[in-house]
Amino acid sequence: MIKKIVLAGGCFWGIEAFFTQLDGVINVMTGYANSNIQHPSYQEVKSHVTTAAEAVEITYDDQIISLEVIFTYLLKIIDVTAVDHQGGDYGHQYRSGIYYTSRAERDLALTLIEEVQNTRHVQVMVEVLPLENFFLAEDYHQHYLAKNPDGYCHINFQPIEPRHKKMDKQAVYEEVLLLLKGLLDKSWHPVTILANVTALLEEKFPYYSWVGFYLAADDYLYLGPFQGQVACEKILFGQGVCGMSFQKRETIIVEDVHRFSGHIACDSESQSEIVVPLYNQNDYLMGVLDVDSYRLGAFDSRDKQGLERVVDLLKDYLD
Ligand code: SME
Repeated sequence: MIKKIVLAGGCFWGIEAFFTQLDGVINVMTGYANSNIQHPSYQEVKSHVTTAAEAVEITYDDQIISLEVIFTYLLKIIDVTAVDHQGGDYGHQYRSGIYYTSRAERDLALTLIEEVQNTRHVQVMVEVLPLENFFLAEDYHQHYLAKNPDGYCHINFQPIEPRHKKMDKQAVYEEVLLLLKGLLDKSWHPVTILANVTALLEEKFPYYSWVGFYLAADDYLYLGPFQGQVACEKILFGQGVCGMSFQKRETIIVEDVHRFSGHIACDSESQSEIVVPLYNQNDYLMGVLDVDSYRLGAFDSRDKQGLERVVDLLKDYLD
């Protein structure tokens, strides 16, 4: 579901730029929250004639990024102990805050703040209040750091974990294909080829939780080279997503594995998956490439196209 949350953490330029980089964040707008006057201007906020906080309104897809992750990052990137101050800025408009529109949001914020207090042994000064209003800031404050990369920023971007970073899937699949072309060698044993492919895919796609091959023999698909948690040893042709993809000789995307009847749950982390048939150079169906994600609906046509191209490239190396 698409949702919104308003947060403050000092100068809104840096907060906007930071959250824009998170996968699942659809849009971030800078503005003024909980102002006592309607449509305050930057000048009014700056000269303290309003009660507004410099803030951002984050629009996010909660199937991709949870509010817990968003709150956790806010508490990580700002000085949670500061009052009316962040970085080089001082004033009531630079206070930090979480402005909720539901009880669940409030409870989550308070729980996470308590956790920070207990683990870091600090007094957290981030205010948690109902959102009264949010007025957009002037155009020149929108996406300011994208337009002015050398502009002032009090935020450290280092804490973004690779799995939370927005990525251009198509570009990464292109990169993987290029790397594979340079890496693979026809003299390699098929197991070596498949093992290195799983390692590369695992390294390049942080939203994968499991990636591996199942190889056909007798009436079964047997677990081949993979990266991730220990998995099922064998799958009967036609069973599970792997068996079905193998039998139908087509790529299958499952948005929610819990709603796919017959899904074989090997990995408790898995929420969605994609399975692509694997052929050798004689067009013999050898097995499947199976990729899982800890995220619902992680795979789309870009993964289908990218992985089908990877598998197609492998054909020439497999006999
Ligand atoms: N999910 C698969 C089984 C293999 S694990 O995901 C590694 C399936 O239902 O085919």
